[in-house]
Amino acid sequence: MFLETVRSEGLSHLSYLLGDESAGVCTVIDPRRDIEIYSDIAKTHDVRISHILETHVHEDFVSGSRELSAQTGATIYAGESNQRTFEHEAVKDGDTIQVGNLSLQAFHTPGHTPEHVCYRVSGGKGAKAPWGVFTGDTLFCGDIGRTDLLGAEQAEGMTRQLYHSLFDKLLPLGDELEIYPAHGKGSPCGGDIGDRLTSTLGYERRHNPKLQIDKEDEFVKNELGSLQPAPFYYSHLKDVNTHGPRVLACVPPIPMLDPHVFQIEMGKPDTVVLDTREIEAFGGGHIQGALNIALREEFPVWAGWMLKPDQRILLVLAEEDDLETVQRHLLRTGFEKNDGYLGKGMRGWFEAGLPFERISELSVHQLKRWIDSDWTDLQVLDVRSPAEWQQGHIPGALHLYAPFLQDHLHSFDRTKPIVTYCGSGYRASIAASMLKRGGFKEVYNIPGSMKAWRAAGYPLE
Ligand SMILES: [Fe+2]
Repeated sequence: MFLETVRSEGLSHLSYLLGDESAGVCTVIDPRRDIEIYSDIAKTHDVRISHILETHVHEDFVSGSRELSAQTGATIYAGESNQRTFEHEAVKDGDTIQVGNLSLQAFHTPGHTPEHVCYRVSGGKGAKAPWGVFTGDTLFCGDIGRTDLLGAEQAEGMTRQLYHSLFDKLLPLGDELEIYPAHGKGSPCGGDIGDRLTSTLGYERRHNPKLQIDKEDEFVKNELGSLQPAPFYYSHLKDVNTHGPRVLACVPPIPMLDPHVFQIEMGKPDTVVLDTREIEAFGGGHIQGALNIALREEFPVWAGWMLKPDQRILLVLAEEDDLETVQRHLLRTGFEKNDGYLGKGMRGWFEAGLPFERISELSVHQLKRWIDSDWTDLQVLDVRSPAEWQQGHIPGALHLYAPFLQDHLHSFDRTKPIVTYCGSGYRASIAASMLKRGGFKEVYNIPGSMKAWRAAGYPLE
């Protein structure tokens, strides 16, 4: 028997291959869309992928189940739901799926989504009793799945369902069972998932902060009070994964565009120039109207917040080697209209003599001097999450979480200077690029942002 974890950085998504070499078969649980990695791993174990299991309709990444099924002929299994419209075997509470000598028993655990199932696994040499459970987005290491994905009106009912799924169904399976969740630290599918990738039901029962509240009403109140906003792309991907994503057969190539062709292409309707360079490089010179989302760990989640699913995307990269990583992140988050990237990057653009813009970078010391001078025209905008804002902010700052800025540009004065800051400068640069796109004349970003402000010992409000 073998069990391998595939971790997709950025979305912090965990998928698994579980196989029985003696029978020559394996299953993939919750595959991502670029699927070559699963076939490669199966090949090293000399098994074929015979089963594909989904724990639930995912909302943060495009499911690779159809892609993998088309390539391997494997059957897709998923919790019973009258919503799914693509071919699959519906799994009911108590059903068992046999993969060679391994048995996976389904437990219906609604709460994160209505049709969510966990799979308890048994079998393998030396294992007399069940030994693990694939918990999907019901239970993570140190956290539980969010319950507001059907909308605010249904969040309380879903939280009550999750309470019963956890306390009446999952935890009674036995403290010794290892858990294999669908996400690790950083995923917005949970609130504050821990560092570890795996745990046991017993450890979580004793130490998971959310499971220390065993009174239903208190559990619900705590959960509803701690929910953070969910990225905008979630609702779109829920639809995509319910009806079955388009099968790509391969990662499609993205054409390299000469700067002059790029300039023509960016003038076409519903097109966004996405600049993935670091914030300082973007500030130093970028194409007018470009959106800056730097290629860091958090790139896919912020792409999911800021891009629209039907938008054409033209890429500006720090270097050509970034292309594949950026493209895979975009495909996993459901952005398929990647119509080209700028050949030779910004160097090619500059050498072609084409126009560019800048965003000035400001030190926290300069900002402090401006605030102290009672410059009444100055707008200081904090774009961190509501929870971060409440923990302390720069005195006199305005607050709007970066993802909501696009629809609230009218709340600020385009003719007056505006300074954006966040935790370290990453989100501030996204916001600054949006303000610049929105016609604000004098925009400043603060590299280091709150980290620098705190390091300087300046006061908080
Ligand atoms: Fe989920």
